Amino acid sequence: MEKIVIEGGRKLRGEVNISGSKNSALPILAAAILSSDESIIENVPQLRDIITMLKILKELGARAHQEGHTVIIKPGNNLSPVAPYKLVSTMRASVCLLGPLVGRLKKAEVSMPGGCIIGARPIDLHLKGLEALGVHIVIEHGYVKAKVKKLHGAEIYLGGPFGSSVLATANVMMAAVLAEGVTRIESAASEPELVDLANFLNSMGAKVRGAGSHLIEIEGVQKLHGTRYKVIPDRIEAGTFMVASVLTRGNVRLRNMIPEHNNALMDKLREAGAELETNGSACRVMYRNGLKPVDVTTLPYPGFPTDLQAQMMSLMTVTPGISVITEKIYPDRFMHISELNRMGSRIHLEGSSAIVAGVKKLSGAPVMASDLRASAALVLAGLVAEGRADIHRVYHLDRGYEHIEDKLEALGAKIWREKE
Ligand code: EPZ
Repeated sequence: MEKIVIEGGRKLRGEVNISGSKNSALPILAAAILSSDESIIENVPQLRDIITMLKILKELGARAHQEGHTVIIKPGNNLSPVAPYKLVSTMRASVCLLGPLVGRLKKAEVSMPGGCIIGARPIDLHLKGLEALGVHIVIEHGYVKAKVKKLHGAEIYLGGPFGSSVLATANVMMAAVLAEGVTRIESAASEPELVDLANFLNSMGAKVRGAGSHLIEIEGVQKLHGTRYKVIPDRIEAGTFMVASVLTRGNVRLRNMIPEHNNALMDKLREAGAELETNGSACRVMYRNGLKPVDVTTLPYPGFPTDLQAQMMSLMTVTPGISVITEKIYPDRFMHISELNRMGSRIHLEGSSAIVAGVKKLSGAPVMASDLRASAALVLAGLVAEGRADIHRVYHLDRGYEHIEDKLEALGAKIWREKE
């Protein structure tokens, strides 16, 4: 096991390159099995979740490997429909194999993803969507077992109690591309990762229209072919560095990002008093004297992303005044609060809203990372805390942030990794 150690108090300055999007790359890698041909996928970040996805694809019988940031995948003609518990249980996102397996093999047995530290995370919308395409589904011995003779297009409403679902939309889209007839997904999720997935599928010969809106139309085709495709930049990694720049009173230029994917965050950072300048695929984020507290509510895209809620909370812990951060996607995604409070913040929870009273200073402490974005929030807090912060269970960070300590060190942070 490893931990990250930070000696806080340094302003971040300089330039940072944003990696490819984890949450785009995962469904895109799964979608590559919709054809037997080889596909080459570029700008794939080197992360633990990507390694897990490649392991699952190999377990299914595909040839897949990563060279630098390029993944070469050749699914071939002998795929197995079974995604086993031992791998699926380590990564919830493996549920996005259901759609491509059903599309390609008309059969899937994917281990049922369990609960998760950020909330219950049911998959009813995934199953409802696939059933509408004619798929027969049973849940047996911990597996989702799906089969269908022939997929047919359908009208599907995919809204759930917390709004749209990213991976349920992805699953239905990936199955529907090989269905007979037209599928219309209403109340579809509109996240940029779904636009990326639709573009990838279209580059394989699919006919998907409307991705990025709440109505996606898919005209089924008989067959898809291999492709070469470049994954979009990671808006959550970019957002994390934007917050880090403001929090440390720094001046950081982010390169290779798509600024408009972070409009909700940029709006809040400006409201808090930071200065942001965008120029093509770059964005400079500068601290300006005196930050103000801002209220934030997480919502599906284009609202403020739940995956940046914890990081924004770290910023508010040292912003004078009171801010209210409300979580509308995962009402229990607040594991970071108790750890931030161990570093001297003053946050208390009222239902699914965190009330943050800004303090003058945080103080470094040993803290425990609970999930990916909570870990990022603790790293950010460590960057401004007085003294040394030890962030344990760093494997959570390695799931979603490529070389985070190297990138932060290059910007001037005093940060390193140690064996426990
Ligand atoms: C994706 O998860 C992301 N994961 C998550 O990122 C992200 O937090 C989430 O979208 C929300 O933006 C990947 O893309 C791999 P949802 P997903 O289905 O698709 C409820 C990270 O840190 N729901 O859009 O699984 C659900 O409980 C991760 O990188 C149902 O009720 O999330 C939640 O309240 C964590 N029934 C809401 O919908 C369902 O069948 C949105 O979840 C499915 C979801």
